[in-house]
Amino acid sequence: MYGLKLKYAKSSLLIVASLIAIILAFSYLPHALLAIVGGLVFILGVSYALGHNAWKQTKDIGSRPQRAAGARPQRAAGARPSRAAGARPQRGERKSGGRKSRAEARASRKVEILHPEETVTLSAEREAADIEDVFSSLDNQLVGLVPVKKKVEEIASLLLVDRVRHRFGLDAPRPNLHMCFTGDPGTGKTTVAQMADLLFRLGYLEKGHLVHAMRDDLVGEFIGHTAPKTKRTLERAMGGVLFIDEAYYLYRAGDSKDYGQECIDILLQVMENDRDKLVVILAGYKDRMDVFFESNPGMSSRIAHHLDFAPYKLDELVAIGRAMLDRSAYYLSADAEMAFRDYLTLRMGQPRFANARSVRNELERTRLRHAFRLAAEPELSRSKDDLMRLEAADILASPLFALAEPVSAIEESARRPPR
Ligand SMILES: Nc1ncnc2c1ncn2[C@@H]1O[C@H](COP(=O)(O)OP(=O)(O)OP(=O)(O)O)[C@@H](O)[C@H]1O
Ligand SMILES: [Mg+2]
Repeated sequence: MYGLKLKYAKSSLLIVASLIAIILAFSYLPHALLAIVGGLVFILGVSYALGHNAWKQTKDIGSRPQRAAGARPQRAAGARPSRAAGARPQRGERKSGGRKSRAEARASRKVEILHPEETVTLSAEREAADIEDVFSSLDNQLVGLVPVKKKVEEIASLLLVDRVRHRFGLDAPRPNLHMCFTGDPGTGKTTVAQMADLLFRLGYLEKGHLVHAMRDDLVGEFIGHTAPKTKRTLERAMGGVLFIDEAYYLYRAGDSKDYGQECIDILLQVMENDRDKLVVILAGYKDRMDVFFESNPGMSSRIAHHLDFAPYKLDELVAIGRAMLDRSAYYLSADAEMAFRDYLTLRMGQPRFANARSVRNELERTRLRHAFRLAAEPELSRSKDDLMRLEAADILASPLFALAEPVSAIEESARRPPR
């Protein structure tokens, strides 16, 4: 209260003094000199304001990497983010609100160490961490991918056990969770990176958001450009997951003018020193990632988990298509499914085939053709089922069939009239 009054008193005094100075100067100084002095004061004032602002921004950006490079702040006993079962965070706005209160609650909460005779069930802890819906969302969204899902379960189990151990006062260094996802396009790498939320709920990460970056977000084009660019991206990702797609483009072997190595050096430092604040996931084609790791052994040694996303088989692609349609209240008639299999058989052998993404794209085009077919006969009455069912004709109209040799089943299904 008194501080506020003092602040206003100071400002008022300053304004009064300035006014008196202006009146005196106006009365006693030649007006030309007054204009010069006034102009100089104005320029100085503006330069100070701009300079101060720029200095503040540089300071903010630079502060975290400095911390990364230097001493890692020690975690106070019991101050580990998540260790006690917390309230369930919500997505979006509510989530960030929830996170704030969680952070406040954490700060004020004293972790009670359990007595060695007490017991805890992992199922209760799992429920308290509220991770079931992350798994069910991964399960619902992703058909197959059994080895990848198993690896995610393993990581979650490690964090869960770690969390319970902490409740008994058993502390261990935090596990390294930097990962590498390798696989062809459209095999689900970016979708699985949503496990960022899982890491948040299990208390490994403070925020659990996902920042998607590529070479252009990290590497600059001239001297002095790369470090601030990399640091800005790292800053955005702190507390969450930094997902670097096609990570091998960071490094251009043999190009002495490339600044990728500078970015990699900063990344290496942060991956080591700030690994309890940030998880880095590198993604890309397997063979190119292998070459990248050979040229950057430091990076390879910081990656704890390698997840390989195998290309999908035909049956899996069909199942993925079915699941995608199901989510949008469409389905394939029996003939349409046969035609879709034929479509995929042809498409898989073509360049730029992108697994589940190609499935999604083709189904979107199929919906378009379905809509166009219905709209072509506007006077006909349509049932709910008509609006949901995709027919063989909607798939066979794809230009791919005109380009390729006919497949036996295509002819078969084309001959049958739509229901
Ligand atoms: N197993 C799956 N089941 C269902 N949908 C899937 C599956 N795998 C991928 N998808 C879907 O395919 C699309 C592409 O997946 P995603 O972007 O995760 O692939 P990616 O491996 O990151 O591809 P890229 O390497 O081209 O970036 C998404 O819509 C995703 O939901
Ligand atoms: Mg991707």
